[in-house]
Amino acid sequence: MIIELGTKYGGMTQFLSELHDNIHTFDVGRYMKLGLVGYLLQTGVTIYVEDIFQTDTVKELIEFPLYNRVLLLCDNGNKKAEVQTFTPFLKTNDVIMAHDYFPTVNDLYHIVDYGAGPKKVKRWPSFEISDRDINNKILKPYFDKFESVFWLCRRKK
Ligand SMILES: C[S@@+](CC[C@H](N)C(=O)[O-])C[C@H]1O[C@@H](n2cnc3c(N)ncnc32)[C@H](O)[C@@H]1O
Repeated sequence: MIIELGTKYGGMTQFLSELHDNIHTFDVGRYMKLGLVGYLLQTGVTIYVEDIFQTDTVKELIEFPLYNRVLLLCDNGNKKAEVQTFTPFLKTNDVIMAHDYFPTVNDLYHIVDYGAGPKKVKRWPSFEISDRDINNKILKPYFDKFESVFWLCRRKK
């Protein structure tokens, strides 16, 4: 099961829905358009228009015994809080990812080339979570190549 926190325009959700058939995506809904919702529902995605910090739904999905492995994608308004709030509910070998991640604040200042053409930027513009925000007692490294695209990736011990 994939749980995505932060649907926005649904670009990532659409991509995921082509790879996997058990996707649950959450957003407060301010960017959702009817066309997108219709499309995602048709592809079998479950959409929750909920504030993830005001509901038990995320926790209940993670703990739901029928789904034996969870990938939790934290791409919402407060990545630090998402990771810290939901990590304790993950089961052994569940995977958690969070966007706008740099291992330390020093890594943020490394020059990186991202994109191409007029959209090319020298440095990723957003920094929301680093290693100091992660509980290494319960999470271990996993697919650390995602760091090059500013995604944290860890597996529950
Ligand atoms: C960075 S965007 C998500 C981008 C999307 N995952 C993608 O790859 O295209 C963050 C989204 O989180 C939503 N959001 C922010 N705080 C939220 C909350 N507490 N509960 C649910 N959704 C929230 C915003 O409405 C916004 O659409």
